[in-house]
Amino acid sequence: MAKSRTSFICQACGAVFPRWQGKCEACGEWNTLHEEAPTAGIGALAARGAKKGRIFALEGLSGESKPAPRVLSGLAELDRVTGGGFVPGSVLLIGGEPGIGKSTLLIQACAALARKGERVVYISGEEAAAQVRLRAERLGLSDAAVELAAETSVEDIIATLSAGRRPALVVIDSIQTMWTETADATAGTVTQVRGAAQALIRFAKLSGACVILVGHVTKDGQIAGPRVVEHMVDAVASFEGDGSHHFRILRNVKNRFGPTDEIGVFEMTGGGLTEVANPSALFLAGRDGSAAGAAVFAGMEGTRPVLVEIQALVAPSALGTPRRAVVGWDPSRLSMLVAVLETHGRVKLGQHDIYLNVAGGMKIAEPAADLAAAAALVSSLVGAVLPQNMVFFGEVGLSGAVRPVPHAGLRLKEASKLGFSRAVAPQGASDKSEKPAGMGLTAIRHIGEAIADIAALGRRSPPERKPS
Ligand code: TYD
Ligand code: MG
Repeated sequence: MAKSRTSFICQACGAVFPRWQGKCEACGEWNTLHEEAPTAGIGALAARGAKKGRIFALEGLSGESKPAPRVLSGLAELDRVTGGGFVPGSVLLIGGEPGIGKSTLLIQACAALARKGERVVYISGEEAAAQVRLRAERLGLSDAAVELAAETSVEDIIATLSAGRRPALVVIDSIQTMWTETADATAGTVTQVRGAAQALIRFAKLSGACVILVGHVTKDGQIAGPRVVEHMVDAVASFEGDGSHHFRILRNVKNRFGPTDEIGVFEMTGGGLTEVANPSALFLAGRDGSAAGAAVFAGMEGTRPVLVEIQALVAPSALGTPRRAVVGWDPSRLSMLVAVLETHGRVKLGQHDIYLNVAGGMKIAEPAADLAAAAALVSSLVGAVLPQNMVFFGEVGLSGAVRPVPHAGLRLKEASKLGFSRAVAPQGASDKSEKPAGMGLTAIRHIGEAIADIAALGRRSPPERKPS
């Protein structure tokens, strides 16, 4: 029989190696291999002479299964991300950088649910119960009947939870601090995280309680350790935001029971997280419409339209290789757009530094932002101030063609609601029925048309910094 040997497991991706090495060949990370004791694999079970399998009944697809009612948390933005409430018996993993507000969000959700009379348990492996209580007090949640404990042993937690009334919601903050006796490794290692998650998932499925696991992410955005549990849980959401801005976005990454591209928007205030029902107003707040190089993009986040300002600065470069810096958008998308503008729009950007920024710290992944980014770039280059009441959306192809994007009607409606009355959009973007009353629509087919319009604006309104 083969001798059981310890193995080395990459803490970033979970790959297993027979001996230590500096770099993980699977994910390319350095210094992530940890030695862990062998676990009883299938081979070991077979060797022990596992008993013959039990025969179970198989079911058909048309069988009857009534959907359990979803559990609404009471925080509308959180319920939007879960696809209309927690599904009983499901497990949700919430990832985010340390300090982003995961514990704050979850204690607020716990309190809201407890106030509805449900049994809610909050297990903190990071903070003492007194610390959690202190935070709850500061947030004005002390009166909610949330059951609290500072524990890290998964077996103890499951025994405690199984003893009383079935909880509607259990929060485990965080999965990296949990440890299970079934795995022989230190807490926080891949083996422990996987083992602890497995046990908690089994508890959720058997009891029908909804379990939320908190996971910390590394600097490059991966849910460290818990990345290996992403495939085991029913839903994964990431809580994002940056230190210099107050708003936080809860973004759905995976959801077995609902849409996956939904976002919930919150604002971090002195009194905890408050929900932002109208994110566009938040992102456009403090906009200086009188400067060249700013274009408002009518975007979509999931099923929800969100307006954001795209700012560009195009300045003659003193360097041999001009600088290209992007915040909130894909740098390779910018390179592509610059090439299209040069080739098909006869806009000369080769000798210019280009800075592009999505205002408010928002991140845009939609190709529909191409047209707005192009408008901001050309506006900055020619010094033309774009009309304050104008929004842009449309995808720019490599041929310079401006292509239609989905949900034109929703984008236009949101723009109209926020007081915008002109839109530059792809030809055939929306039929007449979708266009809100009072919205002037300029339909374009090619990026050249947009550039010509903006250049004409620039000639009509020369920069105000003229010698007097
Ligand atoms: P926390 O929920 O502890 O973050 P995480 O669990 O993701 O590590 O939030 C910590 C930050 O939130 C901290 O920097 C302070 C800030 N905060 C507020 O601004 N207002 C509040 O009411 C609370 C509770 C926290
Ligand atoms: Mg925390």
